Amino acid sequence: LWTCVSQCRVCKQPVINVIILSLTCATALDLCSSHCSSPAPHTDNFCTFEPLSLADAKEERMLLDSIAWPETPLLPAPFLFDQTSDPAHSIFTILPGRGGVDRHVGDQLEVMVQIYDFQGNPKKSGGDVLLARLHNRALEAGVAGRVVDHLNGSYSAVFPLLWEGSAHVEVTLVHSSEAVTVLHRLNREHPERVLFKSLFRSGSSSETTSCNVCLRQTNQPQCNYSDLRTGEPWFCYKPKKLSCDDRINHMRDGFNVRLKDKEEKLFQSKVNLKVFIHSSGPANVMVLPPMKGQPEVDQGKGKSGLSGYYYQGVWRSLGGTKVHQFNNSSAISQCLKGKVVHMYGDSTVRQWFEYLDASLPDAKEINRNSPKQTGPYMIWDNAKNILVTYRVHGPPLSFIYVPTSELRYIANEIDGLVGGTNTVVVFSVWAHFSPFPIELYIRRLQSIRRAVIRLLNRAPDTLVVIRTANLRGLTPSESLNYSDWYTLQLDKVLRAVFKGFNVRLVDAWEMTLAHHLPHNIHPGRPIVKNMIDILLSYICTK
Ligand SMILES: *[C@@H]1O[C@H](CO)[C@@H](O)[C@H](O)[C@H]1NC(C)=O
Ligand SMILES: *[C@@H]1O[C@H](CO)[C@@H](O)[C@H](O)[C@H]1NC(C)=O
Ligand SMILES: *[C@@H]1O[C@H](CO)[C@@H](O)[C@H](O)[C@H]1NC(C)=O
Ligand SMILES: *[C@@H]1O[C@H](CO)[C@@H](O)[C@H](O)[C@H]1NC(C)=O
Ligand SMILES: *[C@@H]1O[C@H](CO)[C@@H](O)[C@H](O)[C@H]1NC(C)=O
Repeated sequence: LWTCVSQCRVCKQPVINVIILSLTCATALDLCSSHCSSPAPHTDNFCTFEPLSLADAKEERMLLDSIAWPETPLLPAPFLFDQTSDPAHSIFTILPGRGGVDRHVGDQLEVMVQIYDFQGNPKKSGGDVLLARLHNRALEAGVAGRVVDHLNGSYSAVFPLLWEGSAHVEVTLVHSSEAVTVLHRLNREHPERVLFKSLFRSGSSSETTSCNVCLRQTNQPQCNYSDLRTGEPWFCYKPKKLSCDDRINHMRDGFNVRLKDKEEKLFQSKVNLKVFIHSSGPANVMVLPPMKGQPEVDQGKGKSGLSGYYYQGVWRSLGGTKVHQFNNSSAISQCLKGKVVHMYGDSTVRQWFEYLDASLPDAKEINRNSPKQTGPYMIWDNAKNILVTYRVHGPPLSFIYVPTSELRYIANEIDGLVGGTNTVVVFSVWAHFSPFPIELYIRRLQSIRRAVIRLLNRAPDTLVVIRTANLRGLTPSESLNYSDWYTLQLDKVLRAVFKGFNVRLVDAWEMTLAHHLPHNIHPGRPIVKNMIDILLSYICTK
């Protein structure tokens, strides 16, 4: 028993007084559960999660492996800023087409990117965060590129050629590899850097205390608000006079971490945060009509691995469900006739609710007194028998203010649904998870997936749609908590957890990457219109 326990302890001590369940730890937990009669002991580390079942722990390890980022440079203090990645010195080059100069619809375009530092020396290692997009503004056409890191300072970006005419390459350095070192450290060492608090009230007395996923042990006792059904962790320091039951709300309370010396230089707008990289030659190519005998473009999905592209401002899916246009309220209400649509999650799905609300003028809004942002909201069209609801997800939700009575976990909400052929469940859960250990997110998705499986078991005809994560507009300070690099990993995990299950995705990542509108946590209306068209296409062509 002792050997086993000590193995569990050994694996749990990577960095000074902070622990994140690491790969090796999951392995040891496996060992513990298979060799010991008692589970892994609760250590005095301040951020531990309850042990997972064997299967979930294995999946967690696989997911962590799948998102492993290339090693990025250590930043010894003081580090040499001049030796970090500089988009202004970096270049991309369009590679010659296969077997000749002509490029046709259906071909692939490949671009090589070489990253240089501020002194103009080529970088020798990978790990920079790059985005690539191919577009034609006049045709309102755009598609995401797939970026491959060669781990030697060079990267490839590969695009399918999907329309005739000009196609312009755009490559963006989101972060230097050195910035990734900082972002990685922040999540590992400061899992409590977003601050939360709760108000407790009873009679005329009230108190406020700090709350979080993980709280440091102090001599102040803690209230454990972890969810009994899903196990989702949440704690507040116990108020001095009041009881844990007197908690009446949940609030965001700022941020508490300072960067180390000079690290903020790695996060400068117009310098090294979301800056375009220039091309060494022409940045665009002319694309000719498809060669005779070339397979249809829309069947190219397997090849590109992409979910779609824009053409004339309209999203076309590559291999998935054909996207129909729902241009006016009668088309939308006709599609939703007799349906109940439940939306759960962050403000990015609330945006969808608001879109439908504005598109269904005959629907009545119910619950007008719900707190702003938080909801819950409901619209009801009596004539067409349409019900649409929205509810936010639970902690670590970082809205300004949520009453405790409205703090619900998506999994529990889904468990409360009967489901059926007229029921649509839509959720989006990602935006609030970036500044936390990814293990928290994995567990959240595993619990939602269990609820989805139960729902589809009792009502197999229920449609479940997941809105994936999207790119955000990033100020330097926002990027420290909500960087697209964090989002990228959440998004990969989301797709992997639901892969092979009977759920449909709306690929918000590609839809924001491929579009010309600036990145924004709440994408512009033309993007939302395309997203809703996909959602309605899923609902009405089912
Ligand atoms: C980096 O690796 C790629 C892929 O292996 C290779 O094509 C390229 O020439 C390498 N670049 C340098 C500078 O070594
Ligand atoms: C908090 O409560 C949950 C649910 O009752 C329990 O599983 C967990 O062990 C508790 N955590 C702590 C640190 O007490
Ligand atoms: C929707 O509007 C677009 C742009 O105005 C138009 O091209 C398209 O044909 C319309 N679709 C339908 C189904 O009405
Ligand atoms: C709404 O769109 C549908 C389908 O595109 C079209 O048939 C109908 O005429 C449009 N109705 C109005 C009022 O524009
Ligand atoms: C993000 O985090 C940093 C430090 O981790 C903090 O100083 C900053 O205020 C935060 N800002 C936003 C907008 O997220």
